[in-house]
Amino acid sequence: MDRYALFGNPIGQSKSPFIHSQFALQCNQSMQYDAILAPAEGFADSWHNFVASGGKGGNVTVPFKQQAFQLAEILSARAQQAGAVNTLYINNDGQLCGDNTDGIGLVADLTRLGVNLAGCTVLLLGAGGASRGVIGPLLDAGVKKLVLANRTADKAQRIAANFDSRVCACGLTNIPEHAYSLIINATSTGLAGGRPDLDPQHLKYCQLAYDMVYGAEPTAFMRWAKQQGVARQADGLGMLLSQAAAAFAIWRGVVPYIEPAMAALKQQLTA
Ligand code: ATR
Repeated sequence: MDRYALFGNPIGQSKSPFIHSQFALQCNQSMQYDAILAPAEGFADSWHNFVASGGKGGNVTVPFKQQAFQLAEILSARAQQAGAVNTLYINNDGQLCGDNTDGIGLVADLTRLGVNLAGCTVLLLGAGGASRGVIGPLLDAGVKKLVLANRTADKAQRIAANFDSRVCACGLTNIPEHAYSLIINATSTGLAGGRPDLDPQHLKYCQLAYDMVYGAEPTAFMRWAKQQGVARQADGLGMLLSQAAAAFAIWRGVVPYIEPAMAALKQQLTA
């Protein structure tokens, strides 16, 4: 049976083994997908051991996405732009290839939610690994203007410098006034039940407030956006599923539907 795995540290809460086992059933693929806890300094060794024992491909999560980027012999344009790899596989010539499906996962989820990204003005909050990987795919999907706002403005500026003039950077307290129709929270604040401190005036034209974090209940950012009158809110569960579906398609050549796995995961989250 073909073997795949997620590498991370910590790994205990990961939904990926469940998601990929659902996809495998749905697409009739004979495969196994495990979660591997790699030591903080030992990602490359863990990966090499996995491949030596027959592993075909993998996903990479915190804190190894940059190390996977360094390890890959061939990088997709998406991975190069993101500076991070979340999907690894070995091509027919035996070379280790690195791709990044986080951004296309977000775009797929926004499309599923009915967002028309063409001509859209986006406010992206946070300048960590979560936001860097999604900027290129958002621009490719037609976003006209993207303002990257971070508590530490220099970090946003360093990321924005990799893109053209459609992307500009600022601190959270000096966000320029635009009619932002989509606001995405890519900060880690939701992990601890919080939200970034944002002037509510930026929400005036917002049609969808999207939080990359997910949970059983709407996140603090989603609840706040709703209170401010934003019509729709979504969490990052669909992005998680869509990035997994894109990785699955790279490995297996078939694109799974995310809806059945999403329903099963929602049930698990609220159980
Ligand atoms: P990762 O790379 O895994 O996404 P990270 O680099 O720690 O993680 O990034 C977390 C993001 O959440 C950063 O943009 C961080 O802002 P700083 O760069 O200023 O640290 C943001 N963040 C974390 N806590 C925050 C808070 N209380 N308010 C606003 N932004 C916060």
